[in-house]
Amino acid sequence: MTKIANIDLDPTRIPRHVAIIMDGNGRWAKRHGLARMFGHKQGVTTVHQITETAAEIGIEYLTLYAFSTENWNRPKEEVDALMSLLVDTIAKETPTLMKNNVRLQTIGDTDRLPELARQRFEECIAQTADNTGLNLVLALSYSSRWELTHAMREMAHDIQAGQLRQECIDEETISAYLTTRNIPDPDLLIRTSGELRISNFLLWQLAYAELYFTDCLWPDFTKEEFIAALQDYQHRERRFGKTSEQVQ
Ligand code: FPP
Repeated sequence: MTKIANIDLDPTRIPRHVAIIMDGNGRWAKRHGLARMFGHKQGVTTVHQITETAAEIGIEYLTLYAFSTENWNRPKEEVDALMSLLVDTIAKETPTLMKNNVRLQTIGDTDRLPELARQRFEECIAQTADNTGLNLVLALSYSSRWELTHAMREMAHDIQAGQLRQECIDEETISAYLTTRNIPDPDLLIRTSGELRISNFLLWQLAYAELYFTDCLWPDFTKEEFIAALQDYQHRERRFGKTSEQVQ
């Protein structure tokens, strides 16, 4: 097998878009007798490693579920600490993104983020806008049901305003009203920590994604674990509803 950056992967079958539900920070902290925030801090190290690996391998899009709409319901101290961690991480990691030619984007209801976090993300998005390598998409204050509700409201508004014709609505129209409008659908979804759920993440976009679940907790998810997920993906046959013979 040909190697990419000395990694056993088939360069012709690299997923274009990998989405990850980073789960298990709290349990990792508990196992180490630490407060939950230590798990999130360790999780940032994993984010750094996996982003670098994705860039190295030539993945085009990496979407990380960093904060869900439902996460706003966590205790206030944890929400505040997570927001501070995001702000600090963006400040610290922007040079790494530049060095690795990574372009940052966000999806989600980012208007709900504290002013400072919103500002920092906007600055980083502007600074990395011309980078041409990996697109790192952070889902922040994101949930699929929020996104679909928002999209349906916008579509209803545009129909009323005479800018959209009801009979012209097709799958492409719907995709264009989602916050992922310029992003291809994920080819592979990874969820860490042994939970077998999608948890309101990219429900429309994951229609044909391959799913990969691992018991590994997010802070323990190494480059090797990531490559194992990609190798597993490369052995899947993607049929998109067709027969095996049709796709061979
Ligand atoms: C899930 O673990 C993780 C989160 C809700 C937050 C993810 C955030 C990070 C990894 C840090 C910041 C990210 C970026 C992109 C800089 P959990 O708390 O639900 O774990 P548990 O299920 O074990 O309690």
